[in-house]
Amino acid sequence: MPVSYKDIGLVSSKELFAKAVKGGYAIPAYNFNNMEQLQAIIMACVETSSPVILQVSSGARKYANATLLRYMAEGAVEYAKELGGSIPIVLHLDHGDTYELCVSCIESGFASVMIDGSHHSFEENVALTKKVVEYAHKYDVTVEGELGILAGIEDEVKAKEHVYTKPEEVEDFVTKTGVDSLAIAIGTSHGAYKFKPGTNPEIRLDILHEIEKRIPGFPIVLHGSSSVPPELVKIINDNGGKLEDAIGIPEEQLREAAKSAVCKINIDSDGRLAMTAAIRKVLNEKPAEFDPRKYLGPAREALRELYKHKIINVLGSNGKA
Ligand code: 13P
Repeated sequence: MPVSYKDIGLVSSKELFAKAVKGGYAIPAYNFNNMEQLQAIIMACVETSSPVILQVSSGARKYANATLLRYMAEGAVEYAKELGGSIPIVLHLDHGDTYELCVSCIESGFASVMIDGSHHSFEENVALTKKVVEYAHKYDVTVEGELGILAGIEDEVKAKEHVYTKPEEVEDFVTKTGVDSLAIAIGTSHGAYKFKPGTNPEIRLDILHEIEKRIPGFPIVLHGSSSVPPELVKIINDNGGKLEDAIGIPEEQLREAAKSAVCKINIDSDGRLAMTAAIRKVLNEKPAEFDPRKYLGPAREALRELYKHKIINVLGSNGKA
């Protein structure tokens, strides 16, 4: 039986984006695959009174089971209320690659989907995105499209080099497809290795501003926006890990982007790093420990702090629920 997101207390991103663009902040889009990540996200957002986009990738659906994830999102709505905060929660498909996957997610309660046609030609991307938009809008589900290609690896999405979004294409794409938001490539990338050592870690805010001029007020999305905090990399390496030359996007640059029409910022790798750092530390310091709660608990705590820090200091979405 298909289920609508509206019946399980979720919201679409339409109004959230309109408010975020006007208010000069961005909504956190945090990925989750397991219970501790989801608990940490909800705790952080309730405590800071921030709206949130819970992102599920096809890799997450394979890992955790699609049915389980969707019930976890439904549970998250109730959990937020129990914690004393009724925050807007969007369940979003991250990097949908086919029409069929988007339909399956919409039928199982997703309020928003991304159709990533960025690896196709412009015309094919338009046709695929338009097809998803036509289906999704019948159910008031919002759709994110993408123009340009991000470098890096994230689950099944891989690309060696950036292909920056061409500002002269965005208006045509948005008009022809009817998408609700647009992910752009301006030098952010997936994973923990975003820049080469010795190079200047800088995203192309000039391209962002040029895009904004062409589609004023249109919601823009930034993927690949982890900052790869050096202190987390150090904890991992000091406790038996081996992450060499991991470099992320400076937080000030993301803060600058969040003040513009960028209204959704995707962060996954930083959460992976925070979790891994906390788990490695416990297991290294207490080799006799074998109760998963004793290392997943501290990992959840580290995630909660990281998510709150992003909301308050990078995205500016605190108090906007
Ligand atoms: P990071 O790898 O920079 O966290 O990006 C995540 C992302 O864009 C999810 O779609």
